Amino acid sequence: MSKNRQVTTTTLRRMKAEGQRITMVTAYDATMAKLVDRGGADAILVGDSLGMVIQGRENTLAVSLDDIIYHTQAVVRGAERAHVIADMPFMTYQADPMEAVKNAGRLLKEGGAQSVKLEGGKAFRPVIERMVRSGIPVMGHIGLTPQSVHAMGGFKIQGRDAANANRIFEDARALEDAGCYGIVLEGVPVELSRMITESLSIPTIGIGAGVECDGQVLVIYDLLGMFEDFVPKFVKQYAQMGEGVRDAVAAYKEEVQAGTFPAEAHTFHAKEALFGPREVKLEPAPAEEDEPIGGMYGVSV
Ligand code: KIV
Repeated sequence: MSKNRQVTTTTLRRMKAEGQRITMVTAYDATMAKLVDRGGADAILVGDSLGMVIQGRENTLAVSLDDIIYHTQAVVRGAERAHVIADMPFMTYQADPMEAVKNAGRLLKEGGAQSVKLEGGKAFRPVIERMVRSGIPVMGHIGLTPQSVHAMGGFKIQGRDAANANRIFEDARALEDAGCYGIVLEGVPVELSRMITESLSIPTIGIGAGVECDGQVLVIYDLLGMFEDFVPKFVKQYAQMGEGVRDAVAAYKEEVQAGTFPAEAHTFHAKEALFGPREVKLEPAPAEEDEPIGGMYGVSV
């Protein structure tokens, strides 16, 4: 089903021009996408962070293109207004430019994303130019680039000294020149993200890059307080849903063990005695039991 999405790359660029900050979050499934969309997120990233928060891996390197396509399809079904961006996984764009364009194309064609994001600076200018020429909007991603975790020697803040800051600044300029419509700045000092944001006409979206960017992105499980293994300095938890989930499951378990769930309110009855005269006499069934259950099931009983 095609939806009339309201936020496009043009909207995001206009937001920067008008000084409106951009709110971006990750999502990986339809239910969460619907919720964050209703919460007002301007953009939803189907990030390769799903390798960690969905697949339970240590880093993003093993995430496949098919993984991202699968999750993007779900997110696209759930979101109505937000711009949906699909991440290009490790080794789907680094080795061969033609393959990179085809892979990016699959994210739009099969996944239903509106744009793609890839990690890397200057060196990716030719491949980004090809994508853009092919009608694929590209968001760049520089600074701390998680797919280069081994090259960086860990997840470390980038661009703290002048030489590295200069290299990242040059990368940002190259991405704008290549035709990117926006850039994620991850794990860089606020002084650097301010300089980049001021010198580019395309929006910068920060994560661990301070408040001077044109927008912010957070991994939804971090934002909701559901990823409890560690909380990086740049994360703010806007809810404690990890605790909420644990408490809810514990309460459910208590009632299952005590035999108090399901209660009468959650129970269906047959319209007549099913097992002959020796069985307990059944109450007449209320009329609404012929109605669909609704909710996620949408089936009749
Ligand atoms: O994969 C991801 O979620 C990301 C964001 C952290 C920017 O790339």
